[in-house]
Amino acid sequence: MRHLLGIEGLSREEILRLLDTAEAMLEISQREVKRVPTLRGKTIVNLFLEPSTRTRVSFEIAAKRLSADAINLQASGSSLSKKETLADMASNLEAMNVDLLVVRDRTAGVPKMLADRVRIPVVNAGDGAHEHPTQALLDALTLRQSFGSLEGRVVAIVGDIAHSRVARSDLLVFSALGAEVRVAGPPTMIPPGIEALGVKPYFSLEDALAGADAVVVLRIQQERLEGALFPGEREYAQNWSLTRRTLALAKPEAAVLHPGPINRGVEIASEVADAEPSRILDQVTNGVAVRMAVLYQLTGSEQ
Ligand code: CP
Repeated sequence: MRHLLGIEGLSREEILRLLDTAEAMLEISQREVKRVPTLRGKTIVNLFLEPSTRTRVSFEIAAKRLSADAINLQASGSSLSKKETLADMASNLEAMNVDLLVVRDRTAGVPKMLADRVRIPVVNAGDGAHEHPTQALLDALTLRQSFGSLEGRVVAIVGDIAHSRVARSDLLVFSALGAEVRVAGPPTMIPPGIEALGVKPYFSLEDALAGADAVVVLRIQQERLEGALFPGEREYAQNWSLTRRTLALAKPEAAVLHPGPINRGVEIASEVADAEPSRILDQVTNGVAVRMAVLYQLTGSEQ
C-alpha cells in the first residue's frame, strides 16, 4: 500500500491489517503520556480544502501521538489564493521533504491526481462524493468492536447515499468484510444501478431497518446538492429520521453510527444520538487510532 486513496482497490487482508493495527494503536490514547516515538522525524502535511472538524483534528492528533510533526494547511492563507495549482503546491511540499500528504478536497479524484504527481504517500481525507476511506475504516472498527466480526451482519446505511463519500466507502468496506449491506433513502438520493456494488436499495426506512444489526445514519449533503431533492427538512425527518420508534425495528441493541456532523432532528433524533446503543463518539475515538494506523503503515517501518 503506497497511498490510501479509497477502499476500492484494498484487499480484505489489507483492510484487516489496518484494523488490527488501529486496534493496537487504541491503547496509546489511553495512556497518561499519549505519545510514542514511532514516527519521530517524520513530517505530515494536512491539506484541507473543505471544512472539517473530526478528520482534520484526528489526523493532527494521530501524527502527534506518533511523534511526527503535523502541519495544517487550508486554501485561505496558502498560495492557492494566488492561483498556484494544487499540483505545484504538492510538488513544493515534496521539495521540503515532507513525508506524507493528507488531502481533503470538494472534487472527486484530487488525491489520486496528487498521488500521480508526487513520490510521497497521499491519503484521501474525503474527495467530493467519491470516497472517505479512513471514515469507513473507523466505522468498520467500531462495528467490529460491537460484533467481533462483520461476517453475516446486516448493516443499513440510511440517508443521502447519492452525495455521500462515506456511503460509498462504507458499503465497500462492510461488503469486503462479509456484511450484508442495505442502502436506504428517498429515490432521489439513491444512485441508479447501485445494486452493481453488491448492495440492496430500500425506499422505506421501516423495511431497511427490519432486523438490521447496525444502522449508519447520514447527513443530507447540502453542499453537494444542485437542486431540491426533497420537499423540506420537516418532511424528510418525518419519513427518514432515526428515532426511538424506528430504531425499534432493528435488532435489539443494534449499533447506531453517524460520521458527523449530525443535524439533530433531521436525520437523527437526539434521543437516539445521545443514548445507548449509539456508538457515535466511539467512532470519533476510533478515528484517531485508524489514522495512526494509516500514518504508521504508509511512513513507518512497515512500508
Ligand atoms: N466525518 C467527517 O468527515 O467529519 P468532518 O467533516 O468533521 O471531518
